[in-house]
Amino acid sequence: MFRRKSIITVLATGMFLSTGVVYAQTNGAPNVQADTAFDNKVIKKINAENMYNTIKYLSAVPREAGTEGEVRGVEYIEGQFKSLGLETRRFPFPIYDYKTNRELAEVDGVDLKGHAFSGSASGKVTAELVNVGKAIAGTVPDDVKGKIALVERGEITFVEKVKNVAAKGAAGVLMYNSSSNGNNFGQANEEIPAVAITQAQGKELVDRLKNGPVEATLDVDIERIEKTSYVVEAKLKPNKNKDTGQIVTIGAHHDSVPNGPGANDDASGVSAVLELARILVNTPIDTEVRFLTFGSEERGMMGSSFYVSQLPQSDIDRMVAHFQMDMIGGAEAGEDHPLGGLIMYTIDGQKNLVTDLGASASSRMYDVAVPYGQLGRSDHQPFHDVGIPSALFIHSPVEPQYHKPTDTIEHISKEKLQQAVSIVGASAYQIVRPDTPALDRAHVSPASVEYKFEDRPVD
Ligand code: BES
Ligand code: ZN
Repeated sequence: MFRRKSIITVLATGMFLSTGVVYAQTNGAPNVQADTAFDNKVIKKINAENMYNTIKYLSAVPREAGTEGEVRGVEYIEGQFKSLGLETRRFPFPIYDYKTNRELAEVDGVDLKGHAFSGSASGKVTAELVNVGKAIAGTVPDDVKGKIALVERGEITFVEKVKNVAAKGAAGVLMYNSSSNGNNFGQANEEIPAVAITQAQGKELVDRLKNGPVEATLDVDIERIEKTSYVVEAKLKPNKNKDTGQIVTIGAHHDSVPNGPGANDDASGVSAVLELARILVNTPIDTEVRFLTFGSEERGMMGSSFYVSQLPQSDIDRMVAHFQMDMIGGAEAGEDHPLGGLIMYTIDGQKNLVTDLGASASSRMYDVAVPYGQLGRSDHQPFHDVGIPSALFIHSPVEPQYHKPTDTIEHISKEKLQQAVSIVGASAYQIVRPDTPALDRAHVSPASVEYKFEDRPVD
């Protein structure tokens, strides 16, 4: 049996310094060392020109989830995987747009000019208002039944608040902001009519309720429009005779913000996924690799959440690492930070197998260990949530073009693409190369270099 040790190897011969991961075997077989010669088996084949061309094609048309633009992107990505001989699958999933036809909140015949939550139920209700504070579960009074709940924003999400009062039988929700800096109309869950008003209006109603009952009317008409978004999966199977049974996932999101070309966000990540697929199909491996591109990331990681939710537990149990690449080519990102500002974000702000490998790979190849930090905001979240070691590779702080119509190919740096994908590629290759023993999820820490936590402002 193999036993993996985490040790620091520093081979100093004159000016030469190499740091790597050593996989120790207890059966007396020779150690296998990660060094740049192994990295180069993969890295030397990376062609940033291919990536650039992918970004050029994808960013020519916005790829908002649920639009023709997304489908165009998906077809391209699938076509690329297919031309590599990979088994591909397209997973459709529903997303919803809401069109508000009527949104009325009235107290004593005065229109409060409120705004319905997207995802509010349609319906008209006239009832007494009941102040339920922040509508935290367990604090919502029973007498809200059949009434309209006056809810303060904060602490928990809008959806949770609506759920909590609906569970107590409320007939509607009037939500007001706890901060005075404007309203943010979040998503509800189609249970009861839900309308947002300003903080000043909410406070005034709270005061009025102290002096006696107040009646309100909510009248909401919202149309739900179903659309389809996609996840693309391409599976690369290992050699049948040498299969660890484990799975590594490499992902990016293919959708853009509405009307955004999304060259860096995240055609850059997709181009890296395709480039690594191109290289790994011709590289012997002992671990399954799944190349994934997600739709609807910009709507709250819906594609990756859908993908993870449909995985059988037996697959999740075999998944040892998820590498997410999102915004890895921004010429103006990263300020003066080393490695163009590349950083690895984890959901919990802890190191994991993925960050250990990333830091080792970058120090072998570029003499700098990529730092890590804590951030969600991309598709590594759902993988983390089911216990898979995951990290987001991104240049931080992000470029000024982020989510703007100026996120175009002109602001993409081939050097940055090359460097980021080299680090991710070399990291993933450490797991999937046939001469390293299988990783045990319970003992995942081949940390061989020191790398630092950074609390770097991202945007
Ligand atoms: N590529 C970004 C992620 C990002 C942007 C991370 C800036 C850090 C700094 C991603 O596509 C994005 O914009 N995500 C959304 C997530 C939200 C929809 C849940 C975001 O951060 O607003
Ligand atoms: Zn993104």
